[in-house]
Amino acid sequence: MSSSLNDFTPLEDVGGYLDILARLDIGFEIEWNPEHVVNSTWHENIPLAFWMAKILRPSVFVELGTENGASYMPFCQVIKRFGAPTKCHAIDLWKPLNKGDNSHQYKFDLVNGHSELHYQGFSTIHRASFDDCVDMFDAGEIELLHIDGRHSYEETRHNFDAWADKLSREKGIVIVHDINVVWESENFGVYRFWDGMRGKYPSFTFAVGAGLGVLGVGNGLPGQLQYLLSSDNETKLKIQTIFGNRGLNVRRFAEIMLQGKSLSWKMTQKWKPLAKKPRIFRMNSFLRKIFRGYRWLRHGHAPPSAP
Ligand SMILES: C[S@@+](CC[C@H](N)C(=O)[O-])C[C@H]1O[C@@H](n2cnc3c(N)ncnc32)[C@H](O)[C@@H]1O
Repeated sequence: MSSSLNDFTPLEDVGGYLDILARLDIGFEIEWNPEHVVNSTWHENIPLAFWMAKILRPSVFVELGTENGASYMPFCQVIKRFGAPTKCHAIDLWKPLNKGDNSHQYKFDLVNGHSELHYQGFSTIHRASFDDCVDMFDAGEIELLHIDGRHSYEETRHNFDAWADKLSREKGIVIVHDINVVWESENFGVYRFWDGMRGKYPSFTFAVGAGLGVLGVGNGLPGQLQYLLSSDNETKLKIQTIFGNRGLNVRRFAEIMLQGKSLSWKMTQKWKPLAKKPRIFRMNSFLRKIFRGYRWLRHGHAPPSAP
């Protein structure tokens, strides 16, 4: 019996996952990997972030707490790829966290350089405190706000309250990182903030890795985001499975990339001492001259140079 491409049995939608993919309008963005790969606890959220930015196409995106750009850059990546009309703003002090810690300058240069090279024209880096930047934005202007500063309950609450007026009443979305971290000794209280907020607005709790809370503060959100935020718990768990599985793959991808980077760095360090010993090379060229002189004496003419 011959078969053709037209002879196929439609896939059975076990668990209703195909229906969810269609309702959320999830496309190939879920398969992308980040272009800017750095150490972070944000990797698992990247597929969800890609999709969210594609659907929302925010006019203004603000990130409070950027550090080395693990979360900020994927938003810029998807905005550039889809040609969304978004102005992106990264805000961070990039100041030493502990005495003797100089990584802040390296992180600032990394983020600033990557932004200038790839996202010039729509990305602005602000080296300032969150509070000092609030008045740069008009009321209701921000359509996507990411809160990822210090992790105490009080500071997370303060950041939300200080920026609340700037959120769009129509398309406003707030995302909050680290809602899944319960680390009392380090004063992590984002989960307590999230517990208090998630009932006040339509919300989606993405409890994979360090966790990301999605809060719908606007009342005119695109249908796909409304579906995410107001589905029943069973559907939300399935949505978490879809984005979470891909998110764990992004983490693995990032770990492999970072291992490769650190290996090539170690190799460079290993061979560095050779470059630091020019005397070896000077001795080498001295010996070559003696050898050429010897050949000159022996053959009575300059020998042909080696190929
Ligand atoms: C957890 S890190 C951000 C991580 C980043 N979003 C990522 O996923 O890679 C928090 C950052 O917030 C910055 N930060 C905390 N409080 C701040 C404030 N009040 N003003 C400006 N920056 C602040 C710190 O300098 C730090 O770099």
